[in-house]
Amino acid sequence: MKKYVITAAATLLMAAFTAPTALNVRKEVTDAGRQLVLADQARKGTDRIPHSTKPDGSANDRETSWWTSGFFPGNLWYVYEYTKDPKYRKLAEKWTAPLEKEQYNTRTHDLGFMLYCSYGNGYRLTKNPKYRDIMIQGANSLASRFDPKVGVIKSWDKFGTYNYPVIIDNMMNLEFLFWASKATGDPSFRKIAVTHADNTMKNHFRADNSSFHVVCYNPDGSVAAQKTHQGAADESAWARGQAWGLYGYTVMYRETKDKRYLTQAQKIADYFLSHSNLPEDKIPYWDFNRPNEERDASAGAITASALLELSQYSKAKQKTYVQAAEKMLQSLSSASYKAKLGDNNQFVLQHSVGHKPGKSEIDVPLVYADYYFIEGLMRYEKVKAGKRLFI
Ligand code: GLY
Repeated sequence: MKKYVITAAATLLMAAFTAPTALNVRKEVTDAGRQLVLADQARKGTDRIPHSTKPDGSANDRETSWWTSGFFPGNLWYVYEYTKDPKYRKLAEKWTAPLEKEQYNTRTHDLGFMLYCSYGNGYRLTKNPKYRDIMIQGANSLASRFDPKVGVIKSWDKFGTYNYPVIIDNMMNLEFLFWASKATGDPSFRKIAVTHADNTMKNHFRADNSSFHVVCYNPDGSVAAQKTHQGAADESAWARGQAWGLYGYTVMYRETKDKRYLTQAQKIADYFLSHSNLPEDKIPYWDFNRPNEERDASAGAITASALLELSQYSKAKQKTYVQAAEKMLQSLSSASYKAKLGDNNQFVLQHSVGHKPGKSEIDVPLVYADYYFIEGLMRYEKVKAGKRLFI
């Protein structure tokens, strides 16, 4: 008998003809919660954190020092926030605890992702003073990677022959520094965030408002090179990078009310939404310059969540941003992206791309796609109810 192999591309092509249903936030968050409970049950006796799927189909759980370790506990905190079910709080506390040692980790810029999504959400919801102490130490560790002569936080210690690489993703760690300034009364964290955002705005963006993934700096703060690591080419627009930039500058505006950041976020949003390669369901290909290759659900989820916040700062574009976010969340909630309960190594969403040029994590679940999906759903409900997301 002839065997038919259904490829990821064919699955998505078929999915394009499946009209997404109306968004039911309560159902989606409840379904996500069920999936998280199953993820916990499938991982007894380990403190490795759910991250993705390996090429052989088994779960790819990672050590707490991996940059995504904060998202799984963050997912549980969000579902607890939404449902108020104490079972999720217990699980969130359990999966947050192993990250405690990362407060001293000075080898990564990703402490915002790691500690703010886990301890940050936990502190916001419980006011546990221990969580606050861990975060303040973590913010100091993150700030230690800022060199005032260069004017940016160093992302990695090395990138090829370059010694001071900064990736656009780093914009996502600034929210944590704003929190630290408010918590301690020390303005230096905030100053670092503002300086980093200003230099990133100057050096990471092209004339069309897309961004480079990696900018490598000289010791005097001048630019040595503009490159990519996870995008298709140095000059291409890696989809998740555009999403990180959009989210990051939206947060910058929230925290400073400086109109330059609002304009930057709007320019990124407009680049993303008006791109001729953005598919009908509004979930981008993994790189805007690689149409018809794999989609990246994570970029769609991050963008949806960011657009919902940005809509509240953008009167003229409010409707456009909310409608685009709604479409993205509808697409992600449809069977084209959302996994069946218990499948997909118990991740909520399918079809993300981690690092295609590195031949890794291509068309897989990624825990941070789930995080921004759940966050986006919760934001969507509030936005539709006319509530402010942030004061
Ligand atoms: N921060 C790494 C990534 O977005 O894949």
